[in-house]
Amino acid sequence: MAKIINEPAHTFNEYLLIPNYSDENNIPSKVSLVTPITKFKKGQEPKIKMNIPMVSAIMQSVSGDKLAIALAKEGGISFIFGAQSIENEARMVKNVKSYKAGFVPSDSNVKPTSTLKDVVALKEKTNHSTIAVTSDGTNKGKLLGIITSRDYRPSKMDLNAKVSSFMTPLNKLVVGKDGISLNKANDLIWDHKINQLPIIGKNGELKYFVFRKDYDEHKKYPNELLDDKKRYVVGAGINTRDYAERVPALVKAGVDILCIDSSEGFTEWQKKTIKWIKKNYPNIPVGAGNVVNAEGFRFLVEAGADFVKVGIGGGSICITRETKGIGRGQATAVIEVCKERDKYFKKTGIYVPVCSDGGIVLDHHITLALAMGADFVMLGRYFARFDESPSNKVNINGTFYKEYWGEGSARARNWQRYDLGGESTLKFEEGVDSYVPYAGALHDNVVMSLEKVKSTMCNCGALTIKELQENATLTLVSSTSIVEGGAHDVIQKDKTSSFK
Ligand code: IMP
Repeated sequence: MAKIINEPAHTFNEYLLIPNYSDENNIPSKVSLVTPITKFKKGQEPKIKMNIPMVSAIMQSVSGDKLAIALAKEGGISFIFGAQSIENEARMVKNVKSYKAGFVPSDSNVKPTSTLKDVVALKEKTNHSTIAVTSDGTNKGKLLGIITSRDYRPSKMDLNAKVSSFMTPLNKLVVGKDGISLNKANDLIWDHKINQLPIIGKNGELKYFVFRKDYDEHKKYPNELLDDKKRYVVGAGINTRDYAERVPALVKAGVDILCIDSSEGFTEWQKKTIKWIKKNYPNIPVGAGNVVNAEGFRFLVEAGADFVKVGIGGGSICITRETKGIGRGQATAVIEVCKERDKYFKKTGIYVPVCSDGGIVLDHHITLALAMGADFVMLGRYFARFDESPSNKVNINGTFYKEYWGEGSARARNWQRYDLGGESTLKFEEGVDSYVPYAGALHDNVVMSLEKVKSTMCNCGALTIKELQENATLTLVSSTSIVEGGAHDVIQKDKTSSFK
């Protein structure tokens, strides 16, 4: 007879934290959110730690290179989506690794033969007022001049005027040579009272711009996550089919950490993939998953996984539980797996970080996941809402939304994620295509969410994630107390709430 677990599986929303004693030290500015992402032996340091406990989901509508840079600036890691060609994924990884803070590749470029009309249209599209004039109109062509809003007056000039007739030509520009430090570049900007400094290569080709307005940028990101060469840390998703071709390309592009992207990780395929990576690239950490119980965790750890991802069916776009009847309440899954992780640590002295993946709806669900033992959380819906996610921003009836679709939806065509070794197709959908409310810049939202996490940690008397895991008290709540948890028995004046 089948094994029946009669205890219901619970979700985050069914738990609350009970405050512990907090003393005068328990203030948010003293809280550290540093957390391991790779396994380590007792008394040793993990190969990679993050400064915040957040990674972005391996999804086409979430983790592109732009979001990866924005999240690394905050101290977390993006896993670039794997459901794209090997070349494209490797290129995205390379873009993150070669991104130099303060050195911006030009996104507005024209040829000297372009017209003022082209310039006006380009400015409208990018909203950037510095335009490079290059030999071939790309951001890698030979720099011939620049155009800023000081160079033209559309109302007084002929819209057919050629760019070469009104640009500021190269011989009148101050430029920096490729390899110049950010400090030196900023000195030139200051000494020459200019707003932007083009940086050119050996043959006069455009490399980047350094902008005066970005001077204070680095102060905005005290937690940025850098490797030992001061490049941003980035992860990438892989599948269990083409890893022998994909992994070498990602490693060559400079990837720091990999993660097998699969809806179900307790499989022979994951074991084979991990073993292959450990044999061929022993220095590249690899996460695996997803699992929802102790046995699944043990299996992946014994196969060599550097972290284990937990969660089946809890994702906001996920219909796996409906279509296949598999999964488990996210809170129960995290609690069981983390108990097994602690048991494994006690027995072997090896600590394997656990990632809670999917189902984070409210900011405090992050704190709950951490208190239940997770070392970090993976979020899809949360990041999809921001400017930096790769999906379209659309206006519906006056409100802005971003598109967000599941990797198991027909739109994503990511059959590898659901692969059980059969044909190379997606036979039925396990995810939906949706909209999420547009929420602006990643930075503003992550800072706000983590302020809430830190504040709750202080209420629980914890200054680190480890202290929270060791000392937190969690309570299951009844369905009526969930109702009591929101505003109730009042007529709310403004239903727009900032709580998400
Ligand atoms: P969210 O943060 O609740 O939106 O969940 C994101 C997570 O859902 C991802 O990290 C994946 O583990 C999972 N996921 C992504 N696409 C699908 C899908 O199409 N079906 C089921 N789960 C998915």
